[in-house]
Amino acid sequence: MSNAQEDWKAQLGAELRELTEANLRRGLRTVEGMQGPTMRYGGRTLVNLSSNNYLGLAGYPAIIEASVEAARTAGASGAASPLISGHMAAHEELARALAAFKRKDAALVFGSGFLANLGLITALTGEGDAVFSDALNHASIVDGCRLSRARVHVYPHGSLNRLEDALRNSQARRKLIVTDGVFSMDGDLAPLPGICDLADQYNAMLVVDDAHGTGVIGEGGRGSGAYFGVEEGVSVTMGTLGKALASYGAFACADSEVVDYLVNKSRPYIYSTSPPPAVAAASCAAVRVVEGDEGERRRENLGNLCARFRAGLRFIGVRLNEPPPGAEIPIFPIIIRDTEKTLALAEYLMEAGIYLLAIRPPTVPEGTSRLRATLMATHTEAQIDRTLDALESGIKKLGLAPGGC
Ligand SMILES: Cc1ncc(COP(=O)(O)O)c(C=O)c1O
Repeated sequence: MSNAQEDWKAQLGAELRELTEANLRRGLRTVEGMQGPTMRYGGRTLVNLSSNNYLGLAGYPAIIEASVEAARTAGASGAASPLISGHMAAHEELARALAAFKRKDAALVFGSGFLANLGLITALTGEGDAVFSDALNHASIVDGCRLSRARVHVYPHGSLNRLEDALRNSQARRKLIVTDGVFSMDGDLAPLPGICDLADQYNAMLVVDDAHGTGVIGEGGRGSGAYFGVEEGVSVTMGTLGKALASYGAFACADSEVVDYLVNKSRPYIYSTSPPPAVAAASCAAVRVVEGDEGERRRENLGNLCARFRAGLRFIGVRLNEPPPGAEIPIFPIIIRDTEKTLALAEYLMEAGIYLLAIRPPTVPEGTSRLRATLMATHTEAQIDRTLDALESGIKKLGLAPGGC
């Protein structure tokens, strides 16, 4: 190894040691078998409370079959970017299904949610423009804002007043508001009706990242726009395919002109290989399930499990916010604050057979380390109760007083 390489390695090693000392070092864990309400890790079967497979569709036979069939007939690869030869029949069918599902004219399929957010924000804004972004938006939105070269106004989480102040004072050529629909680490909703009104009043576009609302809330699982009855007021609905939709990738649904514009301007879309057709076919099959009776049954079951878990958490002393009226969000932040104690609780749970990982800065703000428990429609009541028992004894043993957000 050259001196330069040694030098770099030493610098990176020092930074990694700093992370270790601050309890912020992360590492990969290899899980085995399928993503489901339980999963295999470290030679044991654990109850899985750390997955975004909200409807439990990752193992759904018709979705797996659709994927296998597409791999057989269309091959294993997208093989080219969409504007070259990578836009295959499976992608077109998925785009049409997503547009119909989200009640928009057209849709675009991206390789991932991270790419979609980078691609949307950087295409729709540039120098001389302004982006207005909620303080708790996902990292991919934060990075999209940074890359856009637009002026970025970060407003305090959910604050319509502060958003309005920023919009009123902006002289930007083009204004774009971007928010998560359901916030990934807190499980709360953006105040979309108010945001839509402000977008209208200040002539701003509105992009809603509905990664965690899609399939889960609103009529037919259509997401946070449908939940609030403001689908029309959202200019671009972005969502991911790797959560309730049980596969991989992401989408943006909007008017045809906006989608045409993105096809021409969105660099992560233009310069990235299309997802494999098997992935698109799986997602398409998942959309059909989600909007049909099976999806409805699963949402109902998920809602019941969430209500049970919420009541149980309150009973054992975890403070939680009220769920939005008529909806349950399967994301429960159990906020410990101190990172070392959060890790200790996660480790205790792992010993007790519960896979429920700690979420630490920079994923969440300093001083808000937490366990982020996520439920899926296929959990059993017994698994929920077992998790609550383990949490109760862990919290007692470690002397914690967890709060909500
Ligand atoms: C709100 C939100 N947006 C975007 C993403 C990124 O999506 P993907 O995992 O498909 O890159 C995630 C998480 O994965 C997310 O939680």
